[in-house]
Amino acid sequence: MSATASGAGLPAARDGEAPVIAVDGPSGVGKGLVTRWLASRLQGWHRLDSGALYRILALAAHRRGVDLHDATAVAGLAPGLNIRFEGATEADECIRVDGEDWTQELRKESTGALASRIAAAPEVRAALLQRQRDFRQMPGLIADGRDMGTVVFADAALKIFMDASVEERARRRLGQLSARGIGATLSPLCEEIRARDERDRNRTVAPLKPADDAEVIDTTGISPEEVLAEVEALLQRHQLV
Ligand code: DC
Repeated sequence: MSATASGAGLPAARDGEAPVIAVDGPSGVGKGLVTRWLASRLQGWHRLDSGALYRILALAAHRRGVDLHDATAVAGLAPGLNIRFEGATEADECIRVDGEDWTQELRKESTGALASRIAAAPEVRAALLQRQRDFRQMPGLIADGRDMGTVVFADAALKIFMDASVEERARRRLGQLSARGIGATLSPLCEEIRARDERDRNRTVAPLKPADDAEVIDTTGISPEEVLAEVEALLQRHQLV
């Protein structure tokens, strides 16, 4: 693979390593739409939903009565979790932890908020780092998260950073939740998204921000088709198709 040299100080991909497309951005911005589309466009590429790993760890800690402020104890649960991602589409997605289907519980806003809390701890981020890098396999990886382009895959061949207003993201999230049969209302959802953004953007370790060499797409007021057309143009510009 010909590695795209990243910004100053960032390592270039080693020869023979699978290429990575990093898709970062805040909650509800449409990363799922883009990564699923990329997975069908780039047949055979693997997918990493890194947020799901933070959600799983947070939920496991919560269920086992581990104090979420005790970052060492939370991080200590990570190696023992047997995680399986099944299903290719949003409708048939199933995430099993130690053989049990956790999908519904993982998608709740309350779980996202717990995940955001534990994600601020360096011990927790370190415990999940290698697990995320293990997804990097041939022919390539589409990685979705907050720090894919800045930390986990700083040598990604293409880094996309998506953004949109809080109100627009809350409206979209409401639609997604109701499609999954999960009840929610707009104004508390806006507040939750705002609080989660605040935590994710302002933490000291791996804060949510575009990498210096990221391609930024603001999806406010743009249709899904227009977003995907931009992504297609990026694939071509970066010679990934
Ligand atoms: O993408 P998501 O909503 O499933 O992520 C849930 C939380 O996990 C998010 O608010 C912050 C954290 N997270 C993170 O810190 N780094 C990532 N790469 C992915 C998620």
